[in-house]
Amino acid sequence: MADLFTPYNFKNLTLKNRIVMPPMCQYSVKAEDGIPNDWHFVHYVSRAVGGTGLIIVEMTGVHPDGRITNQDTGIWSDDQIPAYRKIVETVHSYGTKIGIQLGHAGRKAQDAEPSVAPSAIPFSSHYKMPRALSGAEVEELIQAFREGARRAVEAGFDTVEIHGAHGYLIHQFHSPLTNQRSDEYGQDLPLFGERVVEAVKEVLPEGMPIIMRVSAKEYVDGGYDVQHCAEICKRYRDAGVDIFHISSGGEGPVGSNGGPEAKPGYQVDLAAEFKQLLKVPVIAVGLLDEYNAAQEVILSGKADLVAIGRGMLRDPYWAVHAAKALDGGQKVPKPYERGY
Ligand SMILES: Cc1cc2nc3c(=O)[nH]c(=O)nc-3n(C[C@H](O)[C@H](O)[C@H](O)COP(=O)(O)O)c2cc1C
Repeated sequence: MADLFTPYNFKNLTLKNRIVMPPMCQYSVKAEDGIPNDWHFVHYVSRAVGGTGLIIVEMTGVHPDGRITNQDTGIWSDDQIPAYRKIVETVHSYGTKIGIQLGHAGRKAQDAEPSVAPSAIPFSSHYKMPRALSGAEVEELIQAFREGARRAVEAGFDTVEIHGAHGYLIHQFHSPLTNQRSDEYGQDLPLFGERVVEAVKEVLPEGMPIIMRVSAKEYVDGGYDVQHCAEICKRYRDAGVDIFHISSGGEGPVGSNGGPEAKPGYQVDLAAEFKQLLKVPVIAVGLLDEYNAAQEVILSGKADLVAIGRGMLRDPYWAVHAAKALDGGQKVPKPYERGY
């Protein structure tokens, strides 16, 4: 039976354990021209030294206006590739695999003038009114995802994660509340995401898995449910997504039924449901930083991998410490042995 420290293999991706660092934007450290800097290098490499199996680099804009803020990292230019390559090569030297989350914030791009979206509907009263994308611009953004993936491959990443969650552009397209277009991308809600998946797949080497993050359900009043999202995800799976990373919400102000419960493993059952419905591997995320809680997710078979976000912001060596606590056999980095 697999546990947190059992290696994981899917297509050409082999991980030394089941522990994932999920994408987390660093916002307040400015990435000049979207290029990751020393902060990002140390931030990611520390989690590799800390024994993480798979690091997924933060949401990275495939277009300058696709960043959440202008502080954030991007992958819209070949000039950005070397800085990622340096992170990737160093992370690899510690036996950790690394992917990158490709995203576009759409109407949640705070510094874009104007922001763009499937339809001209603002995120909330505090956000600016987005401009509805023209048909030609939709096609350009699909190409932007493709080019972002091509650069990720050139930088040496082991996988890419397409950001289809948290109310960002792909989510905006597949949600009935934010996509009220009358063209084919409005008549067929998953079409945009599906085309993005196909475009990304075209430039990935054979055997490199595609991960996609989705919000399994929405918390706004009238938001979509698990069934809606699962149907959408079947299209993404059939277009080429191999692994789903199951999150929830982020599409707008939380409605009258309330938001996600702030309790350990609050999204694990959603991950298990998607694993069953879609018959593909899933990553569970959300308050799993208590070692036994993370271990239980793998032991129960509810998910194939677990991601530890805020827990890894507090403790870059979370994986080493989990191994110590759970007798997982993961080695402490040699120079740090005397600390234990
Ligand atoms: C500082 C911060 C930045 C985040 N940035 C991203 C991001 O870039 N992409 C994404 O999909 N989720 C992002 N998230 C959400 C996390 O990946 C994760 O899903 C969430 O924090 C729940 O997991 P946790 O309880 O282990 O922290 C971010 C979370 C935090 C705390």
